[in-house]
Amino acid sequence: MKVITVGNNKGGTGKTTITTHVGVALSKLNSRVLVIDNDPQCNATSLLLTGKKFKYSMYDLLTDPNNTNIECEIPTNFPNLYCIPNIVDTSGLSLHFTQTYPDSLFTMKVALERIKEKYDYILIDCPPTLDIPMGMALCASDAVIIPIEVGSIHSIDGLDKCLDLIEAMQKFNPQLNFLKLVMNRADKRTSISKIMIEEIKKNYKNEYFETIVSVCTALQQAEYLRKTLFEYRPTDSALKYYKQLAKEIVTLLPKQR
Ligand SMILES: Nc1ncnc2c1ncn2[C@@H]1O[C@H](COP(=O)(O)OP(=O)(O)OP(=O)(O)O)[C@@H](O)[C@H]1O
Ligand SMILES: [Mg+2]
Repeated sequence: MKVITVGNNKGGTGKTTITTHVGVALSKLNSRVLVIDNDPQCNATSLLLTGKKFKYSMYDLLTDPNNTNIECEIPTNFPNLYCIPNIVDTSGLSLHFTQTYPDSLFTMKVALERIKEKYDYILIDCPPTLDIPMGMALCASDAVIIPIEVGSIHSIDGLDKCLDLIEAMQKFNPQLNFLKLVMNRADKRTSISKIMIEEIKKNYKNEYFETIVSVCTALQQAEYLRKTLFEYRPTDSALKYYKQLAKEIVTLLPKQR
């Protein structure tokens, strides 16, 4: 079982889209997958669980991590893919976690102890900050994927800040490693995309996924209907990027059973 954080403190770089779509793609490779919505914006919950009822969420799990009665892994529309939903109220827990820092950093790790053996891959979708929720995810993880938006230099600044945070968190979690960055929303027709892709390849050798995700407007259409693209348009050619990313992840982090 591998726990993977998907993070970048720059907003809108594609964290949620990549977490949810790679989650579906991994589940289609016959892996048991859990997506954790670690962001009180609840975007992953919206894409994977719209229309589904749930009693417990991340709020309950983080408030009472040792309580074995909290069943918050909700089945999605995809076999083998489950999601722990989030609710807006979770953002209100920040003050408590700040007061109990650094012990609070281990809350998610504790909560996952009894859950993680059921899955091959756990993907944690993080909010666009480097605060305690991201720290908790890093303390519970083996690896980190950082999506960057090709065309936005700010998302590379975010990448560098994330790399610093990963290094700082290795003090609390020595098994944590940066896996790779994903170049997202590449528009290969524009020169800025071409320039940035070349720069990234030069400056982050061996640190990027070979798969580069192109701009795809159908993703936004799917999101508008609160669905993944796998459901909205199962034959869309953009799905190949997420399938390829999933295969790269399986190669880098093979399933252990
Ligand atoms: N390859 C792509 N092509 C076109 N649009 C995309 C692509 N990837 C993501 N998007 C869109 O960009 C927006 C931001 O993506 P997403 O929500 O995944 O980013 P995020 O990093 O999770 O944002 P936040 O920091 O707010 O959590 C969404 O509307 C999403 O549909
Ligand atoms: Mg998001």
